[in-house]
Amino acid sequence: GTVVLAYSGGLDTSCILVWLKEEGYDVITYLANIGQEEDFDAAKKKAESLGAKKVFIEDLRAEFVEEFIWPSVQANAIYEDRYLLGTSVARPCIARRQVQIARQQGAQFVSHGATGKGNDQVRFELTCYAMYPEVKIIAPWRIPEFYNRFRGRKDLMEYAEKHGIPVPVTPKAPWSMDANLMHISYESGILENPKNHAPVNLYLMTKNPEDTCESPDVLEIHFTKGVPVKVINVKDGQSKDTPLGIFSYLNEIGGRHGVGRIDIVENRFIGMKSRGIYETPGGTILYHAHLDIETFTMDREVRRIKQGLGIKFSEMVYNGFWYSPECDFVRHCIDKSQENVEGKVQLSVFKGQVYILGRESPRSLYNEELVSMDVQGDYDPCDASGFIKINAVRLREHHRLQGEASSN
Ligand code: ARG
Ligand code: SIN
Repeated sequence: GTVVLAYSGGLDTSCILVWLKEEGYDVITYLANIGQEEDFDAAKKKAESLGAKKVFIEDLRAEFVEEFIWPSVQANAIYEDRYLLGTSVARPCIARRQVQIARQQGAQFVSHGATGKGNDQVRFELTCYAMYPEVKIIAPWRIPEFYNRFRGRKDLMEYAEKHGIPVPVTPKAPWSMDANLMHISYESGILENPKNHAPVNLYLMTKNPEDTCESPDVLEIHFTKGVPVKVINVKDGQSKDTPLGIFSYLNEIGGRHGVGRIDIVENRFIGMKSRGIYETPGGTILYHAHLDIETFTMDREVRRIKQGLGIKFSEMVYNGFWYSPECDFVRHCIDKSQENVEGKVQLSVFKGQVYILGRESPRSLYNEELVSMDVQGDYDPCDASGFIKINAVRLREHHRLQGEASSN
């Protein structure tokens, strides 16, 4: 049979490629460009030299931003109050293309190098099954003949040498990374002990806030229907107006000022806790900006319901259910909630922080006259007396009962 392997060019998936060949499969490799720093040409040559029947390198950056990052911005998606889901949203984007290729190439099998303990295997495979129900999945790290043979990096290196797989010359960082346009995540290795601090040289997208420049960047971000449509640097007038251009620019500005670093322990879907370090510079700026323009333009009660849906959405995405009826439903509701989320936010980015400076919107629900301490507006203060008294009915009853209980 033919298998489409999600190939990274690294040691693990190179060994998987050769192993699948040994097992008798025709192997097609697929490498998605979702904004990670990578030598795609070298990876292509490597896959060909290892006997891949075909090699697909797909630039998914624009669709990753528009179809996956933007809905997350609209949702204010955040997992367990801190993680902006940079890996979680990338998986359905990568796997969707993988099964498209599999179908188009008449391949019945797909394969990946995710471990048997993590979230990524779940996300990859749920997406594959949702979009190609008859697909057969080969997950080598869950196959005893594979994982018993490759018990550590040493075994992979030996196998590589024996099979003419170029072994990495630079020593591997003592942790595992996952990089894309939205973030870089770092986990395992020396980070597994949750009390160990991250080494200062770990972060690749953001500068250490202690070493960032002494003057802020001031940005104006324009939103339409809850997604950014333009960013302007107020100081130098630079502006971007394509999704990829906007997001990349926010990464650059956020990175320069050390924005978006977190170090957390999180709950994996599989059941265990894991320690992860993340840097999400552009995503963090957008998270704050969107929250601000949303609260400015959205009805209070709609916002409450939508906030709950955002939490649900985040859990579904984290757990791998991007392509599910429930996530589809919630995405539609969130989309509906964003109809009037429009306007611009000015903010400054400085020393690891995002400071909101002001906002403006043609669809604002903010009524300066109504809220003002200085003008009456269309509001009668006498009405507040009744409002407060009615709300106090319950509190007075509660007090009366408590008083009775304590005097007995
Ligand atoms: N813990 C994060 C998540 O589940 C990051 C996973 C990183 N994946 C990786 N293959 N290194 O979304
Ligand atoms: C992996 O296990 O492959 C990476 C970590 C995760 O998926 O949670």
